Amino acid sequence: MDGLFLNFALGGGHCITLACALSQSLHSRGKLTYILDGDNIRHGLNRDLSFRAEDRSENIRRIGEVAKLFADAGVICITSLISPYQKDRDACRALLPEGDFIEVFIDVPLHVCEARDPKGLYKLARAGKIKGFTGIDDPYEPPCGCEIVLQQKGSECKSPKDMAEIVISYLEKSGHLKA
Ligand code: ADX
Repeated sequence: MDGLFLNFALGGGHCITLACALSQSLHSRGKLTYILDGDNIRHGLNRDLSFRAEDRSENIRRIGEVAKLFADAGVICITSLISPYQKDRDACRALLPEGDFIEVFIDVPLHVCEARDPKGLYKLARAGKIKGFTGIDDPYEPPCGCEIVLQQKGSECKSPKDMAEIVISYLEKSGHLKA
């Protein structure tokens, strides 16, 4: 089986929740997966990096290279990263054969991310205790040309399982889940 690199972009704790739901769903179909999560990787491999623009780029570059290694080994690598800059996401895309990098934009309004705030970081950023926080006083470039957009319409919020199913059906249609 071919490996894949799926990048879930955006914050508010949505990415990792969806990454876990997708991973479970793929496991139940007998697929090997591995999740690379920004928060976790920044404790180890990337603990020397800050949240300045250059360091965010280096963070994404290294994670992209690791994800490519997993994909080479036939694993579906799911990354959950803010990855705020288009050029960094495009550089990851360029690492893989065409069709094997799948960009998933979790298009959730800022106020929803702030209301969720599982780590209390938006509150700290609003209080000026964290500087350069994405969406508050640091940029986020929404993906253009991504494969999948998961959007919240009005107050209706899809469950992680439902969102994972949308990704699964994309993977099925694009022939990525054949035995
Ligand atoms: S990225 O911008 O380089 O892609 P990454 O996905 O690794 O970011 O890490 C994002 C996580 O770091 C957030 O989910 C949050 O928990 C934490 N974090 C700490 N400081 C910041 C900040 N200034 N901006 C965004 N996220 C931050």
